[in-house]
Amino acid sequence: MLIFGDKKKVEELTKDFPLYSNNVSEEKTKTTGESIKVPTETISSECTIESAENLAEKYLTDTRTHCQQVWKIMRYFAQQLWEDEERRYIAWLLHDIDWDVIWKNPEEHLWDKFLEIVSEISMDDELISDIRSHYEEKWVPVDTTLRKYLISVDELSWFLYAYSLLRPTQFEGMARKWIKKRLKDKAFARGVDRDHVQYCEKYLDIPLQEFALQVVEAMKNI
Ligand SMILES: [Fe+2]
Repeated sequence: MLIFGDKKKVEELTKDFPLYSNNVSEEKTKTTGESIKVPTETISSECTIESAENLAEKYLTDTRTHCQQVWKIMRYFAQQLWEDEERRYIAWLLHDIDWDVIWKNPEEHLWDKFLEIVSEISMDDELISDIRSHYEEKWVPVDTTLRKYLISVDELSWFLYAYSLLRPTQFEGMARKWIKKRLKDKAFARGVDRDHVQYCEKYLDIPLQEFALQVVEAMKNI
């Protein structure tokens, strides 16, 4: 989808970016919103990349592009930095699998509906923890390289994607100074949490501008 240059359309596209909310309580709070109806048939009882892709196809709508981007960015870093672990790709692809069917309600993110969905492919506890660690570090520690990269890539990739839509060349030629300028512009992609964008500095000890360019490089190949 090419909508570069049209700031209004970008804002419309990115209005649901705030995956994180300061009002997420430590205790789960159920809300009373009507749930989106989703098919009830089980896809597969095995946790494989193929079944994860089918699950993403089944449950992700607005958030599908984002999840696929994060998946591919993480594959890029995996190939650069650590031994390939096919199994982990499942966690990256499905890290927001419930987001569209819980009406993007941060209070419910990665709780009951999420567990119900991933049970369709018998996701094990380790992968579930990998996913949960990216959303709220109070639940699960961000204590592995994989988790540190996922939490660092997640919100930043939203921002860079939004910025790419404004540019005729998209990620090509996206320079450090322009990224910095866009980040300072609070009106641009305002749903993107600027604190979370900087997680690479907290978890990877990599300056934001440097890490942003690495993510841009990864996104060029998507
Ligand atoms: Fe995400």
